[in-house]
Amino acid sequence: PETGCLSIIVLGASGDLAKKKTFPALFNLYRQGFLQPNEVHIFGYARTKISDDELRDRIRGYLIQGKGASSELLEEVSEFLRLIKYVCGSYDSAEGFQLLDKEIYGHEFSKNTIEGSSRRLFYLALPPSVYPSVCKMIKNYCMNKSDLGGWTRIVVEKPFGKDLGSAEELSAQIGELFEEPQIYRIDHYLGKELVQNLLVLRFANRLFLPLWNRDNIDNVQIVFREDFGTEGRGGYFDEYGIIRDIIQNHLLQVLCLVAMEKPVSLKPEHIRDEKVKVLQSVLPINDHEVVLGQYKGYTDDPTVPDNSNTPTFATVVLRIHNERWEGVPFIMKAGKALNSRKAEIRVQFKDVPGDIFKCKKQGRNEFVIRLQPLEAMYMKLTVKQPGLEMSTVQSELDLSYGQRYQGVTIPEAYERLILDTIRGDQQHFVRRDELKAAWEIFTPMLHRIDNGEFKPIPYLPGSRGPAEADQLLERAGYVQTHGYIWIPPTL
Ligand code: BG6
Repeated sequence: PETGCLSIIVLGASGDLAKKKTFPALFNLYRQGFLQPNEVHIFGYARTKISDDELRDRIRGYLIQGKGASSELLEEVSEFLRLIKYVCGSYDSAEGFQLLDKEIYGHEFSKNTIEGSSRRLFYLALPPSVYPSVCKMIKNYCMNKSDLGGWTRIVVEKPFGKDLGSAEELSAQIGELFEEPQIYRIDHYLGKELVQNLLVLRFANRLFLPLWNRDNIDNVQIVFREDFGTEGRGGYFDEYGIIRDIIQNHLLQVLCLVAMEKPVSLKPEHIRDEKVKVLQSVLPINDHEVVLGQYKGYTDDPTVPDNSNTPTFATVVLRIHNERWEGVPFIMKAGKALNSRKAEIRVQFKDVPGDIFKCKKQGRNEFVIRLQPLEAMYMKLTVKQPGLEMSTVQSELDLSYGQRYQGVTIPEAYERLILDTIRGDQQHFVRRDELKAAWEIFTPMLHRIDNGEFKPIPYLPGSRGPAEADQLLERAGYVQTHGYIWIPPTL
């Protein structure tokens, strides 16, 4: 691994993303020894005029959240916070960034830092509207000093534009300043344990190879449900809606990993090449295979206009035009203010041909990958009902992580993704052509929603969403198994 000075600069340091995700992830990496005090310095940058200590005080609470405040932990928190320095400046003025550069440079030459290269990681915890000006400032004033070697990388996060045109414009603006290997576009779903497992599951298990295709799989669902609304984020959300917020990025990334062909190797570019191909094979969305919803009360939020047409729920069927998947619907479903919180992939197999147990309709085989909460994968099977009678029942082979991997802490998505940015591994980041292909799929429909041509159906908060979505699911071929529920094992 590389050694030498590593400067992590969090731009937008007093914002929500930085406080809730970036700093806690950095702290967790620090605790696990990935950020060494004699190498790493962290800089917070924002417009607010505050002192180093004021920034530290704002962050402190988020670092200990959910960890039980032992004196050892508090000591670690203090050590970590001492690594953070605050620099105040605007996002488009030379002075601020010149000052920032001076501070970073000072650290690179400090006697407390071990010698080596100059590695600079800029984390843009900022609204995308300022990405171009911030990137320009970094490029003009804050690049790593070439005589020291090392690198400069930037980390950005969605929303990358609102449609194909605006996304391409943003990509072009950033692309003029930085090379693709310097740009890390985060989609935090790619940092989730079971999303990362997809590649291994699919390509390291002989069992799945002959089954994973249109001959055996009837339909695939990729589902995201939240049991809370857009509280506190109504203003942002109303501009984007559930398709841009969840489906076009998080669920589509999952689809890529479920549907792609085997990459030539595990090299990041080989993997991303295959993801792009899947996206390019998705057919235009058919109007009859879309159901949009909006929960009642959504517009009560004062930051949401009363006549908002923004969907908070959507079911969209995607169809992949290739040899493996022709005819298999990929049903993408996402909603806010529903009756439960979970994210999962549900692969439903076809009926058994020439079924001799037909008198009692059997449920179909399903392979379910539960991304959260309670990470698990389970395979629904029909087995003989234990006992004297020859009858059948639905059961499952269950790999529940909480039970199988007791005592193992599953890292937070942001934690591993930030570690990847430091190590220079782009496998779990979205490449520019991938982003473009993702926007191409949804842009025509999004424009029509924006123009009011598609109306969301109202649904009750705490419900399953509009009944029309379940009907669409059925039309697409999904067969629900009645009378069976998976019960996660208790420890
Ligand atoms: C974010 C969305 O990207 O992902 C939020 O903007 C959503 O609306 C969140 O709540 C869900 O992430 P997770 O990791 O809690 O599933």
